[in-house]
Amino acid sequence: MKIEQADVMETAHKVHKKLSKNGGFLTTEAGGRVNTMTVSWWNIGFMWTRPVLTVMVRRSRYTFELIDTAREFTLSIPDPDLPAALSFAGSRSGREGDKLMALGIPARPGQVTQVPVLDIPGWHYECRIMNKCAMEPGGISPELEKYYTDEDYHTFYFGEIAACYRMTEQG
Ligand SMILES: Cc1cc2nc3c(=O)[nH]c(=O)nc-3n(C[C@H](O)[C@H](O)[C@H](O)COP(=O)(O)O)c2cc1C
Repeated sequence: MKIEQADVMETAHKVHKKLSKNGGFLTTEAGGRVNTMTVSWWNIGFMWTRPVLTVMVRRSRYTFELIDTAREFTLSIPDPDLPAALSFAGSRSGREGDKLMALGIPARPGQVTQVPVLDIPGWHYECRIMNKCAMEPGGISPELEKYYTDEDYHTFYFGEIAACYRMTEQG
């Protein structure tokens, strides 16, 4: 795999297009257990004068149980697309088994985080959680209530982008 460091903001638009199509892999790790789930909602911008990537995770997810332990996460956006793998990671829970093993996707050490990144061609972000914020049920506008009929609210995780790069197959 060839690795090219990338400019966070220059890549944001390209990555957003891909994420809104099939999603990306949000990877977490706790107690030696690595888990990935599909996400398509994200924000990228600046907070506390730093580049920040925000992901939104519902309370019911296994990821929600893991993400606080490492206080880090990685986001991998495959290029070329992996729609079947994203659909699998977005419909099975890590509680039921090791999704990465089932998919045959290896993980590799992060450049700067303890949480690994997926060893696939595409864009990779390594993030350190700076803060989090649970949605306030009372603050949801009426047209959005349909997303939360089961009260499975999102928590927002604000991750400082510690590394951002693109991996391509060599040769
Ligand atoms: C395209 C797509 C996008 C998704 N985006 C999100 C998201 O942004 N936040 C979220 O909590 N769940 C999202 N999901 C659902 C989770 O990926 C799904 O519930 C997954 O099985 C959770 O895995 P886990 O229990 O191993 O954490 C998405 C699913 C798909 C297919």
